[in-house]
Amino acid sequence: MSPNNEIHSLKKLTAQYFQQLDLPHLSLPNAATIVRPDIQCVIYEHMFNEAALWPLPPVGYRTRVLKTIVSRIEEGITDPEEDELNSDLIETWTSLISLPKPSQIQQAQKLTYIKYTAPTTTTTAQDSQTVITSESRGLIYSSGTTGFRTWEASLHLGTYLSTSAGATHVTGKRVIELGAGTGFVSMYAAKYLRPQFVLATDREGTLIENMTDSKAKNGLGREFGVSAWEWGTPLGYPTEDDTEDIARERLCFDVALGADLTYDTDLLPLLFATLHDLFDNYGVQEFILSATLRNQKTFQAFLDACGMCSPQDS
Ligand SMILES: C[S@@+](CC[C@H](N)C(=O)[O-])C[C@H]1O[C@@H](n2cnc3c(N)ncnc32)[C@H](O)[C@@H]1O
Repeated sequence: MSPNNEIHSLKKLTAQYFQQLDLPHLSLPNAATIVRPDIQCVIYEHMFNEAALWPLPPVGYRTRVLKTIVSRIEEGITDPEEDELNSDLIETWTSLISLPKPSQIQQAQKLTYIKYTAPTTTTTAQDSQTVITSESRGLIYSSGTTGFRTWEASLHLGTYLSTSAGATHVTGKRVIELGAGTGFVSMYAAKYLRPQFVLATDREGTLIENMTDSKAKNGLGREFGVSAWEWGTPLGYPTEDDTEDIARERLCFDVALGADLTYDTDLLPLLFATLHDLFDNYGVQEFILSATLRNQKTFQAFLDACGMCSPQDS
């Protein structure tokens, strides 16, 4: 592998690790590569050095990943006189296994910061674009909302927006996201695509609190807002403290975004009523939806509803 490709594949592994991908999906270097001292050093510095990295994945996940890495390094040791495990990795391993670990269920229900990295190609030398969210992947069903994790549809929408064709929908625009969940798409747009303004909305108060916290963690300012909004009710933004002029300006958008909002046929009429409202009363010119095809019947209900709305109704 060329040095460029090696760097690219280590960057990919690091991005996957901070995104807390399941172990079987991690792209680990092969044994002959990972055993090299320079590669082990990069792995320590970019994945396990507690003094320099934040947010690190939870202890249980880190321990499982490091165990897999250490086994792979050991596979690569052909000359015990020459090849050895990096001392920082050994020290990290010793410290990790001595720490108490919550059960996988407890861990799955805790909030954890997750760092996502936008895709790059081997030829792009740009700095990584990252977004930090606050998630609890195990709270999905017990909490009564599905918004505590970032769903694949959001990742796909973020990936599309990271392309030059995608960015044109957001750059210089006023954007509103419906059912934003962790706020991943909105924060990516606000952080990297130079919009005028992005407003992330959801109906769940806890998600609003989490997004407000993530806003600070991503260093976002006035270009990004968070608001509670249940479809079918008045948009609770701007606040009562805003002057009338500011309020009018803030209630005007160019683009609406949504990811994974078509999973329940009961929600569709409300979603469509809300979209009509956005087009009719909030200046929205286009709606970009990213959907996961979990159930053909549900998705068909969505397509049918789209047919009913256009063009004679809109
Ligand atoms: C499957 S999650 C998708 C979250 C996020 N867009 C993603 O892709 O990661 C659906 C989101 O829609 C929100 N939601 C569902 N019904 C809603 C409603 N009537 N009004 C506002 N938000 C709603 C939920 O709270 C949840 O955050």
